[in-house]
Amino acid sequence: MDWIKRAHLLQSESGGSLMYKMKFVEFESERIMYRKFHKNDFTKVFSWHSDIENMGFRRDGTKTETETRKYLAWTISEANADECKNYWFAAVCKESNTLIGEAILLDVPEKPEIGWLVDKNNWQKGFGAEIGNALLYFAFDVLNLRLVIAACHVDNHASYKLMEKIGMRREAHFVKEKLYRDTWCDRLQYAILREEWDALYES
Ligand SMILES: CC(C)(COP(=O)(O)OP(=O)(O)OC[C@H]1O[C@@H](n2cnc3c(N)ncnc32)[C@H](O)[C@@H]1OP(=O)(O)O)[C@@H](O)C(=O)NCCC(=O)NCCS
Repeated sequence: MDWIKRAHLLQSESGGSLMYKMKFVEFESERIMYRKFHKNDFTKVFSWHSDIENMGFRRDGTKTETETRKYLAWTISEANADECKNYWFAAVCKESNTLIGEAILLDVPEKPEIGWLVDKNNWQKGFGAEIGNALLYFAFDVLNLRLVIAACHVDNHASYKLMEKIGMRREAHFVKEKLYRDTWCDRLQYAILREEWDALYES
C-alpha cells in the first residue's frame, strides 16, 4: 500500500487513545485518485443516482435531480469541514481522467463505515475492490481507526463479495431489519479490525 500518499495529520487524544483528526485530503491508489466532489460533477453523479441499476440496493432507491443536487452539496460541505467526519471521495480513473465512482467513509471516529459505488460501465474490472482497499488503508493507516464496518442488502452479491475480497469478515445477518423503500429486507454486516488488516499485509 505504499502507493498511497501519506497525509498531513492533526493528532488528538480521544478516550485515552491516539486518534487522528484531519481535514479532507486527497490521496491515490494504483489506478484511482480520490478527490473532493465538485458542483460540476453533477451530470455524472445524477446519471448514477437516477439509475436503478446503480441504486437498486440503496435504501432510498433512485434520486430526483433536486435530491441529487442536495446530496452533492452535502458531500461538498462535509469535505470542507475543519475536522472531516464524513469522507465522500470522488474516485477518478487516472488513465482516462474520468470520474468512475464514489468512495465513502462515514461516522469517523465513532462508528466508521465504508461504502462504494462504481459506474456500471466499469463494473467487474476490480475498481470496487481497489476503492475498498484504499478506504481501509485510509481508515487504518492514515486515520488510525480501530474498527471499520460495511453493510449491504442481503441480495447485493457484488457488494458483499467486494467486502470479502478486501478481507472483511461477516459479523451479522440481520433479518427483515431495514426498510428498503416499502419492503423490510435482510441486511448483512461485515467488519475488520486494524490488527486483522495489519495481518493481511505482514510479510
Ligand atoms: C458493488 C460494486 C461497487 C462492485 O464494483 P466492481 O468494480 O464491479 O467490483 P470488483 O470488480 O472489484 O469486484 C469485487 C468482487 O465482487 C465480485 N462481483 C462483482 N460484481 C458481482 C456481481 N454482480 N455478482 C457477484 N459477484 C460480483 C467480483 O467477482 C469480485 O470478486 P472476485 O475477484 O473474488 O471474483 C458495484 O457493483 C456497484 O457500484 N454497485 C451499485 C452500487 C452499490 O450497490 N453499492 C453498494 C451499496 S451497499
